[in-house]
Amino acid sequence: MNHFLNINSIKDLNKTVQDALALKANPYVYSSLGAQKTLVLLFFNASLRTRISTELAAKNLGMNVIVLNVNDAWQLEFEEGAVMNLQSSEHIKEAAQVISQYASIIGVRAFPTLSDKAKDQSEWILNAFASYATAPIVNMESAIAHPLQGLADAITILEQSKKKKPKVVLSWAPHPKALPHAVANSFVQTMQRLEVDLSITHPEGYDLDPSIVKHTPVSYHQSEALQNADFVYVKNWSSFNDYGKILDPKEDWMLTKTKIGDAKFMHCLPVRRNVVVEDTVLDSPQSLCIEQSNNRTFAAQIVLKQLLESL
Ligand code: CP
Repeated sequence: MNHFLNINSIKDLNKTVQDALALKANPYVYSSLGAQKTLVLLFFNASLRTRISTELAAKNLGMNVIVLNVNDAWQLEFEEGAVMNLQSSEHIKEAAQVISQYASIIGVRAFPTLSDKAKDQSEWILNAFASYATAPIVNMESAIAHPLQGLADAITILEQSKKKKPKVVLSWAPHPKALPHAVANSFVQTMQRLEVDLSITHPEGYDLDPSIVKHTPVSYHQSEALQNADFVYVKNWSSFNDYGKILDPKEDWMLTKTKIGDAKFMHCLPVRRNVVVEDTVLDSPQSLCIEQSNNRTFAAQIVLKQLLESL
C-alpha cells in the first residue's frame, strides 16, 4: 500500500479485518516495527477519536508522533499557478515536501467545503498531499471519505455478528447542522465488500452519491427498512443533489427504541443525544458506539503496520 486514501486502498479487506482483530488481542506484538519512524498528524478540523486513537496506534507500533493543528501554521495555498498576494503564505508544494522530510507517514484530516461540490469531489486537499508529499498519506477523514472509520466499523460488525450474513441498515437521521457524506460513503463502500445484507434508508432528497451507492437497495420508509435488522448504523448527511443543504429537518427520523427493535446500534460519534438517537438506545447494551471507537485504534494500527511494511 503506497497511500491509504480510501477503503479501496486495502486490497484484502477480510484479511485486514482479521489481522486488526489479532492486533486487538495482542497490541504490542509489533512494538519494534515503527522504531525510529515518525507519524505526523495534520488536522485542518476538530477531532477527538481520530486524533487519540491514531496516535495510540502509532505508539503501539513504536513510532514517534507529532501532531499539528494546521490552523496554527501558515495558511496554505492549493491553486496551481496562484499569485499569492492575498492571505495564503505557503504553497502545498513546499509544505508537503517539507513535512515529508520530518515524517515517515503523514495523516491528514480535512473536511469538505459543502458549498463547492466539484472541489469536494476532487478531494483537493487530500490529493494535493498525495501528489506533493514523498511520504505515504493516511486519510483521517477527507471531503468525501472516512476509511479509518469504515474499517473500524467492519471490525466491529465482524467481531459482533452472530450470523454469517447479517442484515445491516444505514439510516439517515436528523441533525441541526449540515454534515458531510464521508462517513456514510465509507460505510457503504466498506460494507459492499463484506458478506452482509446491506441497505440504506433516508428521506427523499437525501440520496447519497449514486457512484457510491451503486446497486445497494435504498428505501424512503425507515421503519420498513429497519425490520429484522441485525445492525442499524445511524448517521446524518446533507443533500448531495442540492449540495450541502438541509432540505427538511425530518425530526421524526430520530432513531428510537421502538424503531430499532433488537438490532445493535452503531454510530461513529460524536452524536447529538435525543436528536439523532434517543437516550434509551444509546444507554442500552444494544449500543456498540463505544466499542466502535475502541476499534478505531486497531483500524489505524493495521493500516500503519501495512504502510510501515512497505516503506
Ligand atoms: N468518528 C470520528 O472520526 O471522530 P472524531 O471526529 O472525534 O475524530
